Amino acid sequence: MSDEKLMELALQARESSYSPYSHFRVGAALLCADDSVYTGCNIENAAFTPGICAERTAIYKAVSEGKRAFTAIAIAGGSEDSAPALTAPCGVCRQVMREFCDPEEFRIILGAGTGEKQVYLLKELLPLSFGPDNLNGKEKHS
Ligand code: THU
Repeated sequence: MSDEKLMELALQARESSYSPYSHFRVGAALLCADDSVYTGCNIENAAFTPGICAERTAIYKAVSEGKRAFTAIAIAGGSEDSAPALTAPCGVCRQVMREFCDPEEFRIILGAGTGEKQVYLLKELLPLSFGPDNLNGKEKHS
Protein backbone atom coordinates (compact mmCIF):
# COMPACT_ATOMS: atom_id res chain seq x y z
CA MET A 1 0.00 0.00 0.00
CA SER A 2 1.30 3.49 -0.81
CA ASP A 3 2.24 5.98 1.91
CA GLU A 4 -0.43 8.29 0.50
CA LYS A 5 -3.20 5.70 0.88
CA LEU A 6 -2.04 4.85 4.42
CA MET A 7 -2.07 8.56 5.29
CA GLU A 8 -5.58 8.88 3.87
CA LEU A 9 -6.67 6.12 6.28
CA ALA A 10 -4.96 7.92 9.18
CA LEU A 11 -6.82 11.13 8.32
CA GLN A 12 -10.07 9.17 8.19
CA ALA A 13 -9.34 7.61 11.60
CA ARG A 14 -8.69 11.10 12.99
CA GLU A 15 -12.37 11.84 12.41
CA SER A 16 -13.17 9.47 15.30
CA SER A 17 -10.79 11.16 17.74
CA TYR A 18 -12.32 11.58 21.20
CA SER A 19 -10.36 14.54 22.54
CA PRO A 20 -12.67 16.86 24.49
CA TYR A 21 -9.84 17.90 26.87
CA SER A 22 -6.85 18.63 24.65
CA HIS A 23 -8.86 19.39 21.52
CA PHE A 24 -5.92 17.78 19.71
CA ARG A 25 -7.12 15.18 17.24
CA VAL A 26 -4.89 12.34 16.06
CA GLY A 27 -5.41 9.44 13.68
CA ALA A 28 -3.07 6.58 12.84
CA ALA A 29 -3.04 3.77 10.27
CA LEU A 30 -0.78 0.77 10.89
CA LEU A 31 0.32 -1.37 7.96
CA CYS A 32 0.88 -5.05 8.79
CA ALA A 33 3.34 -7.34 7.00
CA ASP A 34 0.35 -9.21 5.55
CA ASP A 35 -0.89 -5.92 4.02
CA SER A 36 -3.84 -5.56 6.38
CA VAL A 37 -4.32 -2.16 8.04
CA TYR A 38 -5.46 -1.29 11.55
CA THR A 39 -6.48 2.27 12.33
CA GLY A 40 -6.75 4.13 15.61
CA CYS A 41 -7.51 7.52 17.12
CA ASN A 42 -6.66 9.15 20.43
CA ILE A 43 -9.22 8.53 23.15
CA GLU A 44 -9.13 10.82 26.20
CA ASN A 45 -10.74 10.46 29.60
CA ALA A 46 -12.07 12.77 32.31
CA ALA A 47 -9.58 11.16 34.71
CA PHE A 48 -6.80 12.04 32.22
CA THR A 49 -4.36 9.13 32.75
CA PRO A 50 -6.53 6.47 31.09
CA GLY A 51 -6.26 8.37 27.80
CA ILE A 52 -4.49 6.67 24.92
CA CYS A 53 -2.77 7.88 21.76
CA ALA A 54 -3.91 7.05 18.25
CA GLU A 55 -0.78 5.02 17.53
CA ARG A 56 -1.22 2.72 20.51
CA THR A 57 -4.91 2.28 19.77
CA ALA A 58 -3.98 1.02 16.29
CA ILE A 59 -1.14 -1.21 17.54
CA TYR A 60 -3.21 -2.74 20.34
CA LYS A 61 -6.15 -3.36 18.02
CA ALA A 62 -3.81 -5.24 15.67
CA VAL A 63 -2.01 -7.22 18.39
CA SER A 64 -5.31 -8.17 20.00
CA GLU A 65 -6.33 -9.69 16.68
CA GLY A 66 -3.18 -11.77 16.39
CA LYS A 67 -0.98 -9.45 14.28
CA ARG A 68 2.59 -8.83 15.38
CA ALA A 69 4.51 -8.02 12.20
CA PHE A 70 4.27 -4.40 11.12
CA THR A 71 5.95 -2.43 8.36
CA ALA A 72 4.77 1.17 8.71
CA ILE A 73 2.48 3.59 10.51
CA ALA A 74 1.00 6.84 9.18
CA ILE A 75 0.13 9.54 11.71
CA ALA A 76 -2.01 12.65 11.22
CA GLY A 77 -2.61 15.04 14.09
CA GLY A 78 -3.45 18.60 14.91
CA SER A 79 -5.65 20.94 16.90
CA GLU A 80 -9.33 20.61 16.19
CA ASP A 81 -9.56 24.25 15.10
CA SER A 82 -6.76 24.10 12.56
CA ALA A 83 -5.60 21.94 9.69
CA PRO A 84 -3.59 18.82 10.54
CA ALA A 85 0.10 19.51 11.17
CA LEU A 86 3.05 17.14 11.21
CA THR A 87 2.76 15.26 14.50
CA ALA A 88 5.52 12.99 15.78
CA PRO A 89 4.66 10.04 18.03
CA CYS A 90 5.12 10.47 21.79
CA GLY A 91 7.86 8.58 23.61
CA VAL A 92 5.53 5.96 25.03
CA CYS A 93 4.20 5.11 21.56
CA ARG A 94 7.76 4.88 20.21
CA GLN A 95 8.57 2.35 22.93
CA VAL A 96 5.45 0.33 22.12
CA MET A 97 6.49 0.30 18.44
CA ARG A 98 9.90 -0.95 19.60
CA GLU A 99 8.25 -3.97 21.20
CA PHE A 100 6.91 -5.27 17.89
CA CYS A 101 8.84 -3.56 15.10
CA ASP A 102 12.36 -3.77 13.72
CA PRO A 103 13.93 -0.34 14.37
CA GLU A 104 15.97 -0.69 11.16
CA GLU A 105 12.92 -1.33 8.99
CA PHE A 106 9.77 0.10 10.53
CA ARG A 107 8.72 3.34 8.82
CA ILE A 108 6.93 6.20 10.55
CA ILE A 109 5.12 8.48 8.15
CA LEU A 110 4.10 11.92 9.38
CA GLY A 111 1.61 13.84 7.30
CA ALA A 112 -0.60 16.87 7.35
CA GLY A 113 -3.11 16.04 4.67
CA THR A 114 -1.62 18.67 2.39
CA GLY A 115 0.83 16.39 0.64
CA GLU A 116 3.53 17.47 3.08
CA LYS A 117 5.18 14.34 4.43
CA GLN A 118 8.17 13.22 6.49
CA VAL A 119 9.29 9.61 6.79
CA TYR A 120 11.54 8.24 9.53
CA LEU A 121 12.80 4.83 10.54
CA LEU A 122 12.00 3.84 14.12
CA LYS A 123 15.73 3.78 14.91
CA GLU A 124 15.92 7.48 14.03
CA LEU A 125 13.13 8.43 16.43
CA LEU A 126 14.23 6.03 19.18
CA PRO A 127 18.02 5.70 19.09
CA LEU A 128 19.89 3.42 21.50
CA SER A 129 16.63 1.77 22.40
CA PHE A 130 15.74 -0.89 24.91
CA GLY A 131 13.70 -3.77 23.53
CA PRO A 132 12.80 -7.45 23.87
CA ASP A 133 16.30 -8.56 22.80
CA ASN A 134 17.80 -6.87 25.84
CA LEU A 135 15.91 -9.30 28.02
CA ASN A 136 16.59 -12.50 26.07
CA GLY A 137 20.34 -12.03 25.67
CA LYS A 138 20.12 -11.53 21.88
CA GLU A 139 20.86 -7.82 21.80
CA LYS A 140 23.00 -6.63 18.89
CA HIS A 141 26.21 -4.88 19.83
CA SER A 142 27.14 -2.57 16.98
N1 THU B 1 -1.51 12.16 20.93
C1 THU B 1 -1.60 11.11 20.08
O1 THU B 1 -2.64 10.47 19.96
N2 THU B 1 -0.51 10.80 19.34
C2 THU B 1 0.64 11.54 19.30
O2 THU B 1 1.53 11.20 18.53
C3 THU B 1 0.78 12.72 20.16
C4 THU B 1 -0.30 12.93 21.15
C5 THU B 1 -2.71 12.55 21.69
C6 THU B 1 -2.70 12.29 23.15
C7 THU B 1 -3.71 13.30 23.64
O3 THU B 1 -5.01 12.76 23.49
C8 THU B 1 -3.57 14.46 22.68
O4 THU B 1 -2.94 13.93 21.53
C9 THU B 1 -2.78 15.62 23.22
O5 THU B 1 -1.55 15.21 23.69
